[in-house]
This record gives sequence, C-alpha cells and structure tokens, in this order.
Amino acid sequence: MLRIATPPQRGIRSRAFNHEVPRKCTNKFAPHDSVIPLPRAEGVDCGGFPQDGVGVKRTTRTAQTGDRKGRPNKKTVPTHRKATMTTKIIFTCHEFFCDAALQEFMSVSTSLKFIKWLDVGVGLLECEVTFSEISVLFKNAKLIFLRHIFPAQYVISHKNFQKISDVQDYAFIKDFASNASKQEPFSIQLRAVRGSATHNSTEISRKIADHLKAVGYTEDKRHPENIISVFIGETNFYIGISKPGENLSIWSGGMRRYAMRDDTISRSAFKLMEALESYPIDLREGGRALDLGAAPGGWTNVLLEQGLHVVAVDTVSLDPVLLANKKVEYFNGRAHDYLKTSSKKFDIIVNDMSMNIVSSVRLVCSIKNRLGDGGHVIFTLKLKSQDKLDKIKDSLAQLGRIFDVVFVKHLSHNRSEITIILQKR
Ligand SMILES: C[S@@+](CC[C@H](N)C(=O)[O-])C[C@H]1O[C@@H](n2cnc3c(N)ncnc32)[C@H](O)[C@@H]1O
Repeated sequence: MLRIATPPQRGIRSRAFNHEVPRKCTNKFAPHDSVIPLPRAEGVDCGGFPQDGVGVKRTTRTAQTGDRKGRPNKKTVPTHRKATMTTKIIFTCHEFFCDAALQEFMSVSTSLKFIKWLDVGVGLLECEVTFSEISVLFKNAKLIFLRHIFPAQYVISHKNFQKISDVQDYAFIKDFASNASKQEPFSIQLRAVRGSATHNSTEISRKIADHLKAVGYTEDKRHPENIISVFIGETNFYIGISKPGENLSIWSGGMRRYAMRDDTISRSAFKLMEALESYPIDLREGGRALDLGAAPGGWTNVLLEQGLHVVAVDTVSLDPVLLANKKVEYFNGRAHDYLKTSSKKFDIIVNDMSMNIVSSVRLVCSIKNRLGDGGHVIFTLKLKSQDKLDKIKDSLAQLGRIFDVVFVKHLSHNRSEITIILQKR
C-alpha cells in the first residue's frame, strides 16, 4: 500500500484575505477602473474582508415533515447553497512538467478550471471555492509537481497600474493597511514574465515595502506572516495577499535558492539540502550514511555537515577535500559491486545516480536490509519526457509495498527528476 506521511508544516492559518475585489467597489481609495471585473461573491461587501462561509446560504425548509415511514422528506433536510464566486489562483510548476502538474491538480477538484498559461510554468486557474479551501485540498493531495500558488485577488492592467503614482492609492495596499496587523511581518514576492523589461520589478517591490514600513509594518523576508504576491504578466498585474502556509511554499514561486559557498562542492548539494529542509529527518550525530553515485561529493558534504560518517561510492573520483576527510570512506567502483561486497548497515542511504525508473526502483528496493530500524532513503528518480504520471505512480506504489513513502516532490533544484524520501517500516 502506498503510504505518504505528512511532512512537518508551519501551521499558519488565517483567512482574512480570502476574497476577490468586487466589481463595483465603493472604497474611495480603490482604483475601480483598474480592476478587471470579477464575479461578485454573494454577501461580500466591497472593501471588507469576508470570512470563509460568506456567500454560503443555509436554508432549512420545514413545511414538510417526512414520509410515512418517518424518513425525512428531502425538503426537511437543511440545504447548503453555495453562492457563485470565482477565485483566481496563480500557480507555478517546472517548465518540463506543466502537463503533469495540470493533470495532477485537475484531479483534485472538479471545481478547478485551467484558464491559461501566463508564462512558462506559470498558470492561471479559477475555482468556485475559496483560496484557503483549495490550498488545503492541494496540501492534502500531496501534489508532486505543483510548487506554489497565490490568490490573484486583484487583477490590474499595466496601463492602469501605471496611472497610479502614489502606492497608497492601490486597493490592495489600502486593504492590506486596514486589515493586516502591524505585529505581523510582511514580505513582498514579486515575479515577472520572463524577458519582460516593461516594469522595474525591484523598484515596484521597493516602493510597496517602503510605503508599508513608513506606516508601521515590518518586513521579514524569511519569516513573514503575510505575503503580498505579485506576478507581472504580459498585460496584467496579478496581486494577492495570503499566509505563507497557504501558498504551499514560503518561497517566491516556490523557488528555494541557496548561495554558493567556498566549500560548496557541486550544485547537486542543493538538492539534498532542499530535501532535508522540506522533510527534516532526525539524523543522530555520528550516524552512518551511504552515498551511491557520490562524485564529486556535494551530497557527501551535506551528510558530513549533518554529523554523519559517509561511505561514498562512485566510479569516478571524489573531490580531494573529501578524500582527505577521515569521516569519509571512498569506494571506487559501481554501486552494485559495493552492495555485493559489504554488509554494513546505515541510518540513511542516498542515491543520485542516473538510472531509468525501473532500475532505480529495483535498486532502491534491494537496499532495504542495509538500513537500520526507521532508516531513510533519499533518492532522485530520473524522468524521461515519455515518463507519464501513471508510470511515476506505479513506481511509488511499488516502493510503497516495501517502505513508507514519506515525501515525493519536484523540488526547486530538481530538473528532469523528482526527489523521493522513504522510511523503513
Ligand atoms: C549526478 S552525479 C551525482 C552528484 C552528487 N550527488 C553530488 O552531489 O556531487 C551522478 C553520479 O553517479 C555516478 N554513477 C552512475 N552510475 C553509477 C554506478 N552504477 N555506480 C556508481 N556510481 C555511478 C556517476 O559517476 C556520477 O558521478
């Protein structure tokens, strides 16, 4: 059975910004003509911040009492009628996996409607439930290819965006200032369509941040409690305010970036760093790790930083710094040969070798007995363009018969591969 456990999450919940800008806004500060008309949610007052449930009418009809057998007549059962509301959502996925991302999340809810691509890997969705609701659905579905979402509560044309010279006159700023607590730090996450030179993104972002700071808010890019997301498309600005936990990733567009350090051996190291950050594993100091396909040694270095002793296996040589490290044992040869010659057990086994899906899954299944109790495997499953979602799901099902599949994601540092974390039962 495929079992996917929940990774630790930051538990931030708030629904304060869960609305669309109504079409006839009476807010005197809002640039009405700059807002693309959106269907109005029943019960939503312009300029207000409707809570979840607004627009849901509960009606109980009591005229009928039920049939002769005492079964309630349909008309006596309370009915919930959901008002028509449209939530616009900007989503992000990797350019190689746009189709897979679409296929994956369209299966989550029938209320989802894909509208269009705004850029490579950036799309616009519509649904008839709130942003918070769709965020919970996406989280529970543990989607592999969807990286990031934000609610496009404000859609403003380029022309109208430029018309406004004073930041405080934007409706989203006005709404933010009248609803967000000054105790809650904010962050601005602004992205623009690739190759666009129309707007100076840094300048726009700085202007918004400077204004909010001037009126008493604090900016905290690493630990924000409110995120103002902006996507500058070809013709419109898409702007939304939400909680980091709702966006599926706290990073802009879901892109985690690490700076190269002097001791970074390879950029591959970032993949393992991101995996361990996304799904923290309790690795005991002095524990043992096996790194299959280790050269030049980025992952080995990350494992050393976790306080582990590492057996690094590769047919090509490791970085000299690692060869000189007493906590590293280097096996110069093929992974299969190492596994035949040694019977050592490990707390964690990692594998970043290029193999097709079938060989990779077979190899990983074969190393189960090399793990200590509760031990983990982290590996990258390399995907070819012809590898469809079904094939990935079959592989996960196969792995799930042997391990607990605790994490599956296309991470920011993955290209044509996904990262999988397994735990020995
Ligand atoms: C993507 S690189 C690994 C990069 C590494 N994770 C790092 O952070 O530096 C893949 C490595 O797998 C090695 N490799 C491929 N097949 C192998 C095999 N059957 N046995 C051992 N190493 C193998 C290659 O030599 C290559 O160095």
